[in-house]
Amino acid sequence: MASKKTEIENMTLEEIKALAEQKVKKEIWEWINGGTETEFTLQRNRLALEKIMLRLRVINGINTADTSLTILGQTVKTPLIVAPFAFMGRVHPEAEIALSKGAEKAGAMMFLGSSSTASIKQVVGVAGTPVAWTSEPLKDREKLFAQIQQAETDGCCAVGLCADDFMGIKIKDRLKPLPNMPLTTEVIRAIRQVTTLPLFIKGIMTVEDALMAVDAGADAIVVSNHGGRVLDCCQASVEVLPEIVEAVDSRIEVLIDGGFRRGTDVLKALALGARGVLIGRPICWGLAAAGAEGVAKVLGIMTGELSRSMMLTNVPHLKNVSRDTIVFDPAVL
Ligand SMILES: Cc1cc2nc3c(=O)[nH]c(=O)nc-3n(C[C@H](O)[C@H](O)[C@H](O)COP(=O)(O)O)c2cc1C
Repeated sequence: MASKKTEIENMTLEEIKALAEQKVKKEIWEWINGGTETEFTLQRNRLALEKIMLRLRVINGINTADTSLTILGQTVKTPLIVAPFAFMGRVHPEAEIALSKGAEKAGAMMFLGSSSTASIKQVVGVAGTPVAWTSEPLKDREKLFAQIQQAETDGCCAVGLCADDFMGIKIKDRLKPLPNMPLTTEVIRAIRQVTTLPLFIKGIMTVEDALMAVDAGADAIVVSNHGGRVLDCCQASVEVLPEIVEAVDSRIEVLIDGGFRRGTDVLKALALGARGVLIGRPICWGLAAAGAEGVAKVLGIMTGELSRSMMLTNVPHLKNVSRDTIVFDPAVL
């Protein structure tokens, strides 16, 4: 562990990504980084973030910034969240255990995916950090309810459903079908009855779906197009964030993911009303490069960038980050 730590200690995210590429097989690298079909959605997530700019504000400025906050009722040191992933054993032998140790070191919350190598109990057992369980919309509804109850018994801080993967995951033109079917408001209501934990729905990209999730009893949503892995020709998640935040009108917490690669990107989403930001592929790069240390390093780099950008935009803490922190490129958005 000590030599690995030295290897990545002074690395940038781009250098960690390059090291990660050397450590996994080519097909795994493509599976991590690819998007569906033409990869338009994958690219649009980045394009939209690049069209939002931060407003530099320094007179009577600040030289400290507090990145701590509560998400889903849990106090964390950073608004960055480890996204849920399937099959992390393909990326590193310690898989989700390394993800949770890395999240703990960075003071971040972790979302645990349902197709994981380690069990919920194992992950929650080693994680000194809140773990939220993310199910798929399984065809077998009894199994789904049982999984949700198990997550509560095993000590998860929240439970949720990834609503958008009922057609399977398609990387370029390779489809991986899943034993799932579309989620209904009826099922969300039924899940609301089987757990007392906060309930989130991931994969929301429209006001219509956001309002149905609120009405069915969700406590939070993740505005997400699955990192461009399910539907091609989709809007960017940050593009639909403002209208969804306005529609839900503070009734639930709004989280987001898709294309976030810098602390500055994270500040942009927070200024548009997101409470937290899930980080996907960069976490996989950290995991592949150096296990738990790599995950902690990626979260540390991005939280450090967030803190610095908060100081340069006059944002002392994350409670109600002002909308004035950002401006849109009028030519594009
Ligand atoms: C390799 C990989 C596996 C993933 N597996 C899941 C999963 O099992 N469940 C889920 O809800 N999302 C899954 N996702 C999507 C992420 O949770 C997240 O929505 C997405 O990666 C965010 O975009 P980003 O990678 O651009 O940060 C996966 C993403 C990747 C890259």
